[in-house]
Amino acid sequence: LQALAARTRQDFLVGAAVALGPLTGDEDYAREVVGNFGALTPENAMKPQFLSPQQGVYTFEEADAILAIAQSKGMAVHGHTIAFTEAMPRWMQQLPTGSKTERDASAAALLDYLTTVVTHFKGRLASLDVVNEPFDVNQGTSMQQNIWYRVFGPGYPAVVSKAVYAADPRVLQYINENGADVPGQRQDALLKLILDTNAQGGHIHGAGLQAHVYNLKTDAISADALTRTLNRFGDAGLHVRISENDVTDGQGKDAQAKQYATVLATCLRSPTCVSYTTWGVDDRYDWWIDDGGSLRQGHDHLFNNGQPTPAYDAVKRAL
Ligand code: XIL
Repeated sequence: LQALAARTRQDFLVGAAVALGPLTGDEDYAREVVGNFGALTPENAMKPQFLSPQQGVYTFEEADAILAIAQSKGMAVHGHTIAFTEAMPRWMQQLPTGSKTERDASAAALLDYLTTVVTHFKGRLASLDVVNEPFDVNQGTSMQQNIWYRVFGPGYPAVVSKAVYAADPRVLQYINENGADVPGQRQDALLKLILDTNAQGGHIHGAGLQAHVYNLKTDAISADALTRTLNRFGDAGLHVRISENDVTDGQGKDAQAKQYATVLATCLRSPTCVSYTTWGVDDRYDWWIDDGGSLRQGHDHLFNNGQPTPAYDAVKRAL
């Protein structure tokens, strides 16, 4: 897929979110990944809960192992993620914010975490989600009041962005969000947040649009709506990554395949859209199941049990 995309645009990356376990332990999965993708996003390994289970303690091994594989195969790596409400270790969530003295100490602890992590990975990441899912889960336009928010206030993304820049000025910074893939209030809020962040001295290069599609009847992403979206961000001087695309087969394999192809083809044809990443590789490792979730059966990926799915073929034809 990466090689096909490069025929249209040399600089364009086609990536997948991956886990170390199957990458080293499952030949089918490793072949699917290495044979198709030019970029990797560690699916969980760089989240704060995995990088720092206790304050001041860092477990970089798994992320480093994924980065080493990517480097040996000439793949770019997208880092995921610094400030993410849902993926914080308990010590971080529970940092005290009652008094000014407490907030100052908590601010120092958060920035110490950030600087340690970004410095550790410096030079090895092409891009990074500095803030993931700033808004309430799945809908609305209010910001999640996580520890970064409680310590630094609503302008926390600028604090994060400036601190990341200080530790690694070259990594391209993104704010990543779901449900902002088509024009609407949530997209307005994301665009505004990025522009406000940069007006406050931040260094956000663009928006990550997750493009999870779990109901093809109500939430399909049309080529037209995605094109208007990309034009909007482009007109604002920003770039876009399609960061986590995966599509349910609830309306059938054909509809699923078409949706995948539409998102990738539309992205590839817009100069604003710099890369496309699919969330997961093979249905064998569906992420909701991994999550302990029972929301859907796992039939969402480009591969199923070592074989390409109709979605894979559609994507290939669209490139
Ligand atoms: C998911 C992973 O895929 C699961 O394995 C994990 O249990 C929970 O998180 N949006 C994001 C990702 O930004 O970090 C989430 O990843 C999927 C939704």
